Amino acid sequence: MSEHTSFDTIAVQAGHSPDPTTLSRGVPVYRTSSFTFKSAEHAANLFALKEFGNIYSRLGNPTNEVLETRVSQLEGGLASVSVASGTAAIFNTVITIAKSGDEIVSASNLYGGTFTMFDAILPDFGITTKFVDVRKSEQFEKAITPKTRLLFLETIGNPALDVADIDAVSAIAKKHHLPLVVDATFTTPYLLRSIEHGADVVINSLTKWMGGHGTAIGGIAVDAGNFDWSDPKFELFNRPDPAYHGLRWALDLPPELRKIAFALRFRTGPLRNLGACLAPDNAWHFLQGLETLHLRMPRHVDNALAVAKFLAKHPKVSWVRYPGLEGDPSYELAKRLLPKGAGGMVVFGLKGGKSAGVKFIECLSLFSHLANVGDAKSLAIHPATTTHSQLSEEQMQEGGITADLVRLSIGIEDQGDILADLERGLAAT
Ligand SMILES: Cc1ncc(COP(=O)(O)O)c(C=O)c1O
Repeated sequence: MSEHTSFDTIAVQAGHSPDPTTLSRGVPVYRTSSFTFKSAEHAANLFALKEFGNIYSRLGNPTNEVLETRVSQLEGGLASVSVASGTAAIFNTVITIAKSGDEIVSASNLYGGTFTMFDAILPDFGITTKFVDVRKSEQFEKAITPKTRLLFLETIGNPALDVADIDAVSAIAKKHHLPLVVDATFTTPYLLRSIEHGADVVINSLTKWMGGHGTAIGGIAVDAGNFDWSDPKFELFNRPDPAYHGLRWALDLPPELRKIAFALRFRTGPLRNLGACLAPDNAWHFLQGLETLHLRMPRHVDNALAVAKFLAKHPKVSWVRYPGLEGDPSYELAKRLLPKGAGGMVVFGLKGGKSAGVKFIECLSLFSHLANVGDAKSLAIHPATTTHSQLSEEQMQEGGITADLVRLSIGIEDQGDILADLERGLAAT
């Protein structure tokens, strides 16, 4: 397999060369639960991590491995673990690093499901979250206590679209020797190489722009490969792990594996024993999507900017947020961090509030009304009554979600057709 350095070539080729047995050029889908061992010694070596190889598809699968290699290279990390959803990638990342009694410091402007995980589910497992305002990076530092084990943010928050100052937060993480975990779903490595800005773990919901066609659910966590876990405060990496032969992940591995201790512990602990594995068929869908990531993203960005400009001038629109729109509160940050564009999402408020929003969504025809983002097709939803409806009013306010907010995920259709559909919807309100 040849090594590639250009993003576009990695997206198309990395992780796979023609299969030596069948000469298949496409990545084969290894639809199998298990793999035979060559000998008893081979089996024992695989289980003891003395040798890497396939055992059982809950732990890893060759189709998924192509995906993991490709995404690691696109993000500039050393190892990845793919799982059943973006949500599973976040949960398994957290429990790979933190345990009962530990704390997370997280931006509050999160996807509703992630907010609920941090706010209403992890506390029952003894992991609590301090939420901070992403627009005030210094709040991350103020919220750190001796119990903090990781900092968390979305590179562009869902749905309010505030861009996180990843450089400022990663400087705080480094100062306190804490890993910075970022959910990069709204940027993808095409728009932002989070590791180059100091992220230690990068999560993507593959369901969105990475897969790009709304055909499968999946997630991935990339280990940047340069966090030192040997600080005793990371107890899960320094105590003999009862879930893995008493191994101390930060201490007992050879140096080249110690670098990817996070990815190894994730795979052999939470993934192996809690089971949120990605089906190889879905890994294949994401590989198909990744081959055109570098072609789709510029189009998403161009169309989203055109929509933002159109809405900003429209008499029926009270406000618009798109980080690439001049005057947006995140515009300066987007200019610095996202030179290739500020993503494919646009949110706005309609004069006439919630009822106008409902009417607008119902009158769209090119846009599909559904609970997803990052599809090649344009999508629309009203978060306050759907994706974020579990949140209290106060939590909605903290996350920047107003009752009149309409969320658009701008697809790669013809720009004129997209704008005409929006005009039709607005005329109906
Ligand atoms: C920013 C962000 N992160 C994570 C997720 C969860 O991903 P999944 O639906 O693949 O579990 C979503 C879903 O909408 C999201 O928008």
